[in-house]
Amino acid sequence: MSHAVVELAQAPDLPSIGTLHARAYHPTREWHRRIFPTSVAPWWEYKYSLDIADPNNYVLKISFSDTPTTVLGLLSLRKYAANEKGAGRWTSCLPPPEADREAVDTMVKAMIEHRERYMLGRVHLCIDHFGVDDAYQGRGMGKTLMAKACEIADAEGLDIFVEANEFAESFYKSFGFEEEDRLALPPDGVTQCFLIRRAR
Ligand SMILES: CC(C)(COP(=O)(O)OP(=O)(O)OC[C@H]1O[C@@H](n2cnc3c(N)ncnc32)[C@H](O)[C@@H]1OP(=O)(O)O)[C@@H](O)C(=O)NCCC(=O)NCCS
Repeated sequence: MSHAVVELAQAPDLPSIGTLHARAYHPTREWHRRIFPTSVAPWWEYKYSLDIADPNNYVLKISFSDTPTTVLGLLSLRKYAANEKGAGRWTSCLPPPEADREAVDTMVKAMIEHRERYMLGRVHLCIDHFGVDDAYQGRGMGKTLMAKACEIADAEGLDIFVEANEFAESFYKSFGFEEEDRLALPPDGVTQCFLIRRAR
């Protein structure tokens, strides 16, 4: 019988990964609809083709065992060196012109400032992207992905940093993340929370 499985994503998953952000965020998040329109799907595919090939990235996907390349949820975890600056792929692989670059830049700048403030000086993990297809939310898939991410972090003895939208804050706290700061992104963006989960 088919069951949900978490695995590291691979190249055949990329077409489905390209549409995951829109499937996870667009139905309920106007801001995300505006900044990452559905037309940027090829960019997500390209970005994730680089992440999948990068040993510093864990691109975790959840899918049903009988349809493994239909990605229903994704959690991308990037390992940063102790003194690595910037925001990884978010700064080295910029989204195309259809994205609202001003809004993306504001979000990425906030990520850089806060990650560098709280995490520089030690190797750590950072959640780059996390979402579950809206049609499958509330069935435990997000929890399964996050449990795997925490298992990886604990096995490596690494803290996890995340810039999360305020809607997901209580979800993160239920996994032991603690809020360090929050910021309303100008001019009309969502409130972002900056949270850290210490390795166990
Ligand atoms: C946040 C998200 C990934 C959670 O995935 P999910 O598969 O819906 O979550 P689960 O079904 O595993 O829910 C696990 C628990 O978290 C709760 N939960 C789910 N979404 C939540 C949210 N946005 N905020 C707070 N709690 C949430 C559920 O009620 C459930 O609680 P319970 O175990 O006490 O019943 C998903 O709702 C999503 O993709 N949302 C849109 C994108 C987003 O906000 N991503 C987070 C990026 S910062």
